Parts: sequence; C-alpha cells; structure tokens
Amino acid sequence: MIGCGVVGTGVFRVLAEHGELIETRLGAPLEIVRVAVRDPSRVRGELVPREKLTTDVDAILEDPEIDVVVELVGGVERPFEWLKKAMERGKHVVTANKAVMAVRGEELIAIAEARGVDLIYEGAVAGGVPILRVIREAFASDKIVELRGIVNGTSNYILTRMSEAKLSFQEALAEAQAKGYAEADPSLDVNGGDACHKLTLLARLAFGAKIRPEDIPTEGIDIVDARDMELARRFGYVVKPLAVASIRTGALDARVHPALVPARSDLAAIHGATNAVHVEGALVGPTMFSGAGAGAEPTAVSVVADIIDVARNILADSAGRVAPGCVLGVAIREFPRLPPEELSLPYYIRLSVDDDAGVLAEVASALGQNRVSIEAVVQTVQEAERSATVVLLTHEARETDVRAALALIAELPALREPPVVLRIVR
Ligand SMILES: NC(=O)c1ccc[n+]([C@@H]2O[C@H](COP(=O)([O-])OP(=O)(O)OC[C@H]3O[C@@H](n4cnc5c(N)ncnc54)[C@H](OP(=O)(O)O)[C@@H]3O)[C@@H](O)[C@H]2O)c1
Repeated sequence: MIGCGVVGTGVFRVLAEHGELIETRLGAPLEIVRVAVRDPSRVRGELVPREKLTTDVDAILEDPEIDVVVELVGGVERPFEWLKKAMERGKHVVTANKAVMAVRGEELIAIAEARGVDLIYEGAVAGGVPILRVIREAFASDKIVELRGIVNGTSNYILTRMSEAKLSFQEALAEAQAKGYAEADPSLDVNGGDACHKLTLLARLAFGAKIRPEDIPTEGIDIVDARDMELARRFGYVVKPLAVASIRTGALDARVHPALVPARSDLAAIHGATNAVHVEGALVGPTMFSGAGAGAEPTAVSVVADIIDVARNILADSAGRVAPGCVLGVAIREFPRLPPEELSLPYYIRLSVDDDAGVLAEVASALGQNRVSIEAVVQTVQEAERSATVVLLTHEARETDVRAALALIAELPALREPPVVLRIVR
C-alpha cells in the first residue's frame, strides 16, 4: 500500500473487522505486506503495525513477493509514475485516486492492457457507492443514455446547510471543514474540479468516450447565494451540485454545475455529504444509487472490494482482463460533443435592479430579442434601497441565446449587481 491516511487506515480497519469473512469468501487471506508513507512517526492507531511502514516506495514496487499495489496518496504525477512502474513490473494495481485516473487514466489503461494486469479504481468515484461496478456489470446489457449525479459530498453538504439552516456560503463551508468533510484547501470541492474528475471517469466508463477533465465545462457552487436557495424553493426547486453526462441527442453533453432540480425529484432528497448517481438505461429506464460518498470506512470498503476482485482473478488465473475497473482501452473512442450552442434547458435568472418603471419591460425585451421566453417572474421590492429583485424562470432556451440576452441586460443602467444564472434540470 502507498499512503496510509484517511482511506489507508480505513483499509486496515476493514481487514481487521472482516478479514475472516473475506478469507471465507475468497478462499485465501489478504495480507498487507508493506506500507509507504511520508512520515512513519505519525500516529495512525493500533491497527497499523509500525514495522510495516517505510518511506521507500520502491521497496514496494520492486518486491517480487507483492502481487497488488494499492495507491492511496492522491495527486497526479507521482501516483502516475508509481502505478506505471508497478504495472510494468507485472503487479496489479488498485487506486482510489480520481485525479490520476481522470488526467492520465487512458495512459494507465493502455499500460494495464499491454502488461496484462488489473487496474481497478472503484473508490475513486462516490466513495462507498459501487457505481463503477454497477455501470460496468449491471448495465453491461443496456445502453446508458444519461448519468446525473451528486458526486461531491462537501458541496452538497454546503448547499444543504445553506438551504435548511439558512447559513451563508462561508458559514456552511466553515461548518463542513469543522466536521472534516472539506479539506483545509476546499477549492477543488467548491469550484467543481473534484466532481469534474469523477464525471470524467463516469463518462469514460458509461459511454466509452475519450474525455478529459478540460473537456467538461465546470462551474462551482461558489456562484450560489443563500437568496437563490430561498427563491428556488418558492418556485418548487432546490439547488444541488450536479454532474451530468448525456448522449440523448447522439452527441456527448457533459457538464458540472449547480442546478435547480424539482423539490420532489430523487436527487433533491439527497442531503448532506451523501452522494447519489442517477443512471438511465435505454431499456431499464431510470435507476439511482446513493450512499456515503467519502470517509474512511465507506471508501475503504470499495478499495478492499477491488483488492478482492484482483485476488479472485489471480486465484482463477484470469487477471489482466482489465475489465474489472474500466472499459477496454480499445473501446474508448472519440465521441461527438454537443456544441454549446445546441444545449437547451430552462434557466433561473436573478437580477438586482433599480425599482423604476420600465425596467422589467427592458429585461423582457432583451430576452425576447434573443428568443428566450419567460415561464414565471417574481419581483420583490426593497423599499429602503429603492431596488428590486427580479427572478425569472425561462422556458427551455438555447444557452447561447440566454447568454446573449444577459449581455444586453448587463448593459442596462438600472442593473445593480451582475446577474445570477442557474440551469434548471428536470
Ligand atoms: N478521504 C476520503 O474520504 C476519500 C474518498 C474517496 C477517495 N479518496 C482518495 O483516496 C486517496 C487518499 O486520500 P486520503 O483522504 O486517505 O488522503 P490523506 O489522508 O491525506 O493520506 C495520504 C497518505 O499519503 C501519504 N503520502 C503522501 N505523500 C507520500 C509520498 N511521497 N510517499 C508515500 N506516502 C505519501 C501520507 O503519508 P503521511 O501519513 O505520513 O503523511 C498519507 O498517509 C486520494 O486520492 C483521495 O482523493 C479519498
């Protein structure tokens, strides 16, 4: 094992608590031979034997007795080199690292195939929710047309607390950090980067699409204000951090952004740090999978399940099929992308404007000129400031038309703050 922090110590706990059960199921025991860490003097609890710790990663990668290397460090370049080196030495690899699989996954898959070893990474997406296995195995006979998920627990926790406890974004973030959900540097959670990595893995597996994180338009939840949570509720919606990938139109549409979802929808009921992925198959229809998206034990359950898969393959002499963790590299192909101008959705627009006659008509005109029609409007007046908050829900409109209308609205002298625009996903 390389890395023994939150997830790594969880792996020791799973083996301590379920080692016998696993041995019964597998027909062989699993043994952690050696563990590379940065600082062996750090306290890791009684489950992690000190004599197994080393700072020498090569002592693992070069040991011919070790069959499986489990990477639980994080980051991209170093883990890539470790995983590559392990596979080149004929070792099977397991990782919970979404970043390395999103950024350099295609290369790693190619190496695994060339070397005939297993590469599995269930823990990398949605922690304890076995979504990659579901896509790979349960949907093997169907065609997935759309994935829609809440795959970052920190941002879902923050939006949930803003909505339910009326906290500001900063207060909710501070609470998420105090509870250990958010990292000390929460930027990848809050700016959508973490969800983007996970969506890269989901879309690659579900559609066999060649896709990189930079191909996925990504917006963080930091654009959402407590006012939007309240206003969305008035229209029967809640704001959720979504990752969406769809091939419904024949082209791949993948994006990460906060969105209004109907208050009665299945994703609206996913609260706090829970993750959920809604998968729609052409023949099976809509399905949903949810559970703990992070944390030591849930993630370690996924990691140890991956190790068991590899061990089963080794015992059956069928390792190296690659399929346990990914589509075959040869099946990953370029997929036509939905051009941004063809994306068509309903939108939520919040404007802060001077409370003067004719302003609403100017806003309506800017939208109308760009073929954006309005489904509902609510205006509230702040007398003391002589301002008004105008919230508009549009009918389905092309995103490029909405942006063009907003460019006109941005030039109105009556506008007090930049407009807030959120997509509505029904
Ligand atoms: N935490 C979660 O809930 C969760 C959920 C899903 C996936 N993951 C993924 O799992 C991976 C591990 O996450 P984590 O939360 O367990 O991280 P973590 O608590 O920060 O642990 C990282 C571990 O890596 C070790 N390490 C760092 N640099 C090293 C180096 N150069 N050589 C050897 N060891 C090194 C650290 O050693 P020291 O202990 O000596 O500092 C530590 O044990 C990441 O890819 C993460 O994205 C985490």
